[in-house]
Amino acid sequence: MGQDASQPAPEEVRRGPVGVFDSGVGGLTVLHELLVQLPAEDFVYLADSARFPYGARTQAELERFALQVADELLARRVKLLVVACNSATAAALPALRARLMQTTLGVEVLGVVQPGAVQAVAATRNGRVGLLATPATVESGSYARAIADADPFVKLTSVPCPDLAAIIEAGFPFDQHVVDTVRDYTTPLREAGVDTVVLGCTHYPLVRPMLQRMLGRRVNIIVSGDPLAHQVEHVLGARGLANPRERGEGNYSFLCTGDTEAFRALGTRFLQLPLGAVEHLELGADRRGAMAGAAR
Ligand code: DGL
Repeated sequence: MGQDASQPAPEEVRRGPVGVFDSGVGGLTVLHELLVQLPAEDFVYLADSARFPYGARTQAELERFALQVADELLARRVKLLVVACNSATAAALPALRARLMQTTLGVEVLGVVQPGAVQAVAATRNGRVGLLATPATVESGSYARAIADADPFVKLTSVPCPDLAAIIEAGFPFDQHVVDTVRDYTTPLREAGVDTVVLGCTHYPLVRPMLQRMLGRRVNIIVSGDPLAHQVEHVLGARGLANPRERGEGNYSFLCTGDTEAFRALGTRFLQLPLGAVEHLELGADRRGAMAGAAR
C-alpha cells in the first residue's frame, strides 16, 4: 500500500482482514499457518469450490476466476491478498498484482509458488528437486522459473498429478487407492534421486506422512504455507499494516461458492481449528444468472 513502517496505514485499514483464497479446502492448510503465525490478524477465506478443480483449468480461465475472487475480497476491504492456491498463483499472479495495485490504496498480492521454490533451493544438498503439482501448475512453468531464478543449476523433476487433489478430498478415511495413487506419483521422483520435494498444491500436505514414508525420511518435503506466512508477516510489518490489536486473537470467516456444509465438514480436517459459519456466495456467470433470475 505504498506505506513504510515509520508511517503506519490508517487504523481502519490496519484493522481490515487479510484475504485468502483457493479452489476449495486446500488453501486451509495455508490459512492454518497464517492463523498460527499471525494470531492478532483477522482473515476472510474464499473457497471457490463450485469451480473446483482449478488444476484442470486453462490459464485464461484461472486468471478470470482469480480476478473475480479478488474483486469480491476487495469489496470486503481486505488489506492484503494471499493466493493460497498454486494453480491460481501460477496463472494469475501478474494479473492480480496489476488489478490490485490500481485500487486507491494499492493492495499487495502474495502467492504460494515463490516461497516454496526459494525454500526448496535452500534445502537441497544434491541439487535435485522434485515437484508434485496439478497439471495447470506444472504446465505454467512457474516453479521451473522460480527455481531457476534462485539457482539455475538446480535440476527440477516435475510430476503432474491430475487426480490427486480430488482423491484427497474424497479420500477420508484414506484407503489403499489413495496410497497406490500417491506411490505412483512418487516413482519418477525416486528414480530421479531428488533429495527435496515441493508440495506444489495446497491439498497435498494432507498426504505428507504417506509421502515421507514412500520417499524416505532423508528427503526434505517443502510445504509453502510456512514460508508464505513469514512473508505475510514481513509485508504487514514493513508496510505499517499489522493489526494494532493488543489482546486476544483475531477473527476468521469463510465464503464458499459451492456446498457450504460439505466445505465445513471437510474443511475442519484441513484447518485443524474450528471453522464456524460459512457464507454462501456466487461469482461470475453464476452470480449474473442469479441476479437475472432475481430481476425476473
Ligand atoms: N489447491 C489447489 C492448488 O494449490 C489445487 C486444487 C485444484 O485443482 O483445484 O493448486
